[in-house]
Amino acid sequence: MKLLQIDSSARRNSVSRQLTEKFVHAWKKQNPQGHVIKRDLATTTLPLITDEWTLAAHSDPAHLTPGQRQTLSISETLIEELLAADTIVIGAPMYNLTVSAPLKAWIDQIVRVGRTVLYSAAGTEGVLKGKKVVVLTSRGGAFRPGTPTAQYDHQEPYLRHILGFIGLTDVTFIHAENQKPGDLAEPARNAAIAEIQLAAALTKGTPPAQDSPL
Ligand SMILES: Cc1cc2nc3c(=O)[nH]c(=O)nc-3n(C[C@H](O)[C@H](O)[C@H](O)COP(=O)(O)O)c2cc1C
Repeated sequence: MKLLQIDSSARRNSVSRQLTEKFVHAWKKQNPQGHVIKRDLATTTLPLITDEWTLAAHSDPAHLTPGQRQTLSISETLIEELLAADTIVIGAPMYNLTVSAPLKAWIDQIVRVGRTVLYSAAGTEGVLKGKKVVVLTSRGGAFRPGTPTAQYDHQEPYLRHILGFIGLTDVTFIHAENQKPGDLAEPARNAAIAEIQLAAALTKGTPPAQDSPL
């Protein structure tokens, strides 16, 4: 079993990083033979999409120039990490009502026609099927359905839609809300950690088939 851990906060000691660490710890207990791939987007150089990038991404992969291969190399690395993973945990701080810029830059690199999404006359089809995704958000305020600010949540709806577009439809969100300084922060964090334990308990891998003794 393989777990891909993605962190996208600018802060080293951030809430969302604490949450992904909790998830990884709990996942390892369920999958002691499992392997964790760490991808820290704060320390990964993630170029913005350029004219060269779009030309390369829409060219026949068999006829790419060495320069085009280089342009797509980080995208290839990030897509291979996704393809290899059974479970993906994403730490997502809310910045300005949506995802952080590094997480958006990662999304721009991994959503690729012909690689993670296929177009045909029948429509689009995501390639990354059968994987479990857990998104752990951290927010200063509160945006759950029913709150006065629910309509300003451009994080969960956006992530659900774009992950679904590439085939990642089994997505669980766990929110640590009210993380601005105050009495609400710690209980909200603890509630999120309790939910994380439950979500990780559902990730136990199927043990490899035993060889027949006969
Ligand atoms: C640049 C920036 C923008 C933020 N924008 C919002 C926001 O729009 N809504 C909100 O509820 N909190 C906002 N916050 C607060 C963060 O969501 C909160 O501090 C959260 O814990 C960040 O996650 P992290 O601890 O993993 O870095 C913002 C924080 C920063 C640094």
